[in-house]
Amino acid sequence: MKKTLIYNAPELVTSAGAAPKSGANMADIGLIKNGAVFIVGDTIEAVGPSAELQERYKGADCLRIDATGKAVLPGFVDSHTHLVFGGYRADEFSWRLRGDSYLSIMERGGGINASVSMTRNATDEELIAAGMDRLSGMLEYGVTTVESKSGYGLDKDTELRQLRAMRELNDRQPVELVPTFMGAHSVLPEHKGKERAFLDWLLDDVMPTVKAEGLAEFVDIFTENNVFSIEDSRYYLNRAREMGFKLKMHADEMVQLGGAELAAEVGAVSADHLLKASDQGIADMARAGVIGTVLPATAFCLKEDFARARYMIDQGMAIAIATDLNPGSCFTHSVPLLIALSCLYMGLSVEEVITALTLNAAAAVGRADRVGSIEVGKQADIIMLKYPSIHFLPYHTGVNLVERVIKKGQLVLDKSK
Ligand code: NIG
Ligand code: FE
Repeated sequence: MKKTLIYNAPELVTSAGAAPKSGANMADIGLIKNGAVFIVGDTIEAVGPSAELQERYKGADCLRIDATGKAVLPGFVDSHTHLVFGGYRADEFSWRLRGDSYLSIMERGGGINASVSMTRNATDEELIAAGMDRLSGMLEYGVTTVESKSGYGLDKDTELRQLRAMRELNDRQPVELVPTFMGAHSVLPEHKGKERAFLDWLLDDVMPTVKAEGLAEFVDIFTENNVFSIEDSRYYLNRAREMGFKLKMHADEMVQLGGAELAAEVGAVSADHLLKASDQGIADMARAGVIGTVLPATAFCLKEDFARARYMIDQGMAIAIATDLNPGSCFTHSVPLLIALSCLYMGLSVEEVITALTLNAAAAVGRADRVGSIEVGKQADIIMLKYPSIHFLPYHTGVNLVERVIKKGQLVLDKSK
């Protein structure tokens, strides 16, 4: 079995833990100065001070990576994306630049429904090829696990094709995909006023196949004005949970509807966006242990105020940070942009941001027992930076510092030479 010793890391971030960190604990990243990690196969076998591990494994037959001058972290987890879609909406970005709102573009037939037409028209190979390209860009930023939502089909065939494309993508490249069924992403004109019947159709006709084929672990819904109401969302999420799906929500993004409160009520794993979440909703989520996934690049691209992540952490919530990569509101997979916005505009420390991109994001995709930290027994998903300290992450603003990526014990990206 392949063995690797990474040693002499000036800073080794462990993000140790099997459960998400909340409140003040988010600042604890388990930093080891001059650290080392020993990998056997796809699993971490030892973590600790470099001197100790170098002594213990001095006779071992293994690949040795000298991390002098390079900070070492767990691979990043991007816990909210819509990465499988056909076509693009660059025109909408220009309309937004001249002042049109996201919801007004959606109401006149653009927005998600425009991507639905383009995705229905894309072949399986086109969806997979575009997904491969996006995933290789994510890997460059140190993302080793990514959540990926359907929701640009809204008919049975295309929703299933999106999910099957994700399965294929999982086999074809190193980044691990966690699939989410998001058939409740938008209301097509023919379903207007008949939202409940559409949700019943998803529940009765589509989701049993998704379940039977193991095509998705999570179910997500866009709870928003002119999309799905709180009442319809409650009904849908409760039934989805009874079918054995874990739950996510797009909650309180544009309008304060009470999505955060509902996420706590139905026991969602995460509620995402939360730009307009109420104080009550935040208190409810903290109490119920719902992870708040904030998506600062989306707020940035929509020129909206950022989610109150600082306040949420201070109220005891666990926060994850994700890109929301999608063809409309936020066409970026840039982790450096997330780090910059989180530190400079949401008031988070670099330590909190790291927890939000590693352990807490792993928990948001139901993988905290396996990924998100550098700990004995966990999967060896590890990144090495070009610089010695995590403090370069926000400081070298907007620049990609990831030099090497190890996924399941394999060096899958190396820009060190
Ligand atoms: O998370 N808010 C709803 N869904 C996506 C946008 C998708 C799109 O614009 O295509 C989001 O921002
Ligand atoms: Fe989204």
